Amino acid sequence: MSEYTAIIKNTLIEDTKIEFDLFLKSGSNRHSNYVLFSRVNELFSPERREELMSRNAQKLYISTNDIDKYLKYQEKNLKHIIEDNTMSSLEKSGVLYQVAKNVTAELLDDPRSGQHVERVSTWVSNTIHHILENENTLSNLFKVINHDYRIYTHSVNTSVIGLLFGRFLSLKPEELNCLGTGLILHDIGKVTVPPIVIKKRGKLTVNEFAEMKKHPKAGLKILGHRSSVDIRSLKIVIQHHENNDGTGYPYGIGGSDIHLLGHISRIIDVYDAMTTNRHYAFAEKPFTVLVEMKNKMSNCFDSELLREFICFLGPKELRKKPGAKDILYSVPSVTKQMPSERIVLCDQKTER
Ligand SMILES: [Fe+2]
Ligand SMILES: [Fe+2]
Repeated sequence: MSEYTAIIKNTLIEDTKIEFDLFLKSGSNRHSNYVLFSRVNELFSPERREELMSRNAQKLYISTNDIDKYLKYQEKNLKHIIEDNTMSSLEKSGVLYQVAKNVTAELLDDPRSGQHVERVSTWVSNTIHHILENENTLSNLFKVINHDYRIYTHSVNTSVIGLLFGRFLSLKPEELNCLGTGLILHDIGKVTVPPIVIKKRGKLTVNEFAEMKKHPKAGLKILGHRSSVDIRSLKIVIQHHENNDGTGYPYGIGGSDIHLLGHISRIIDVYDAMTTNRHYAFAEKPFTVLVEMKNKMSNCFDSELLREFICFLGPKELRKKPGAKDILYSVPSVTKQMPSERIVLCDQKTER
């Protein structure tokens, strides 16, 4: 028997081909029928939209088997969807998040595909547009974030939080682009770490941790030859486990040797990991995590940026209005040179 899933009807854009069947529901919840409204590959014409309006249909349905096609459709029409005035900011945030999860899951399945990297970049541009155009994206995007730990949800979450935080810091759109893209890609190197290590519930052995610590360099190797990925995004991939005091990995660099986007990604990576259930630790409450980051892990972070991050997540009235202050943070340009090897120390509690 077919299962059906309700979709947001406003995500359907006029004059686009709909590559799946659309259904309307009739009858009561206990005895409902799904009646075909439009067949696969039919054009969603203005007349069809009118027809929906005249029938006063609150919801449209698709076969659950067609969810992937619906996600692809949303991705293809993302720019239109986020510019649509009839959809709420929360609905748009939900669409952006679902599309990102799908794009990132496919990227991690096939990390060397240039096409997937392009899709990430397009998603980041659309999300920046959404964040800059809407006032209440912070609460709406936080509402749609999942807290089940998978590499792809963690990658999307860090990108979403990073873009919102970057906006709070008044980064320029082009810098936000580098930040959002780098954060989605930051753990791509984990595809080279044996699954038994990734999924291990307990503490990693020294050898297993050594395997895990290879992922920033592995990520750089996967992406480094792609000219479409900005070097500032690659800084995030290679530096997101570097600590401010030089005790992180892979190079053990610290302070000003870490790029601004590297410092930002360190904070966000830890925050998202600790507020999420992982194989090896339960999620903690955001406030508890911030206290722990401030009191027990301050060596890991740039203290000024951590203070900004705490303000950013704090009560709304304490938040500075984005764009209303001088630009304090400007992303430095970078050379292609990466620092030399050094000894690494890092605990396993945060994100390993
Ligand atoms: Fe990582
Ligand atoms: Fe991470």
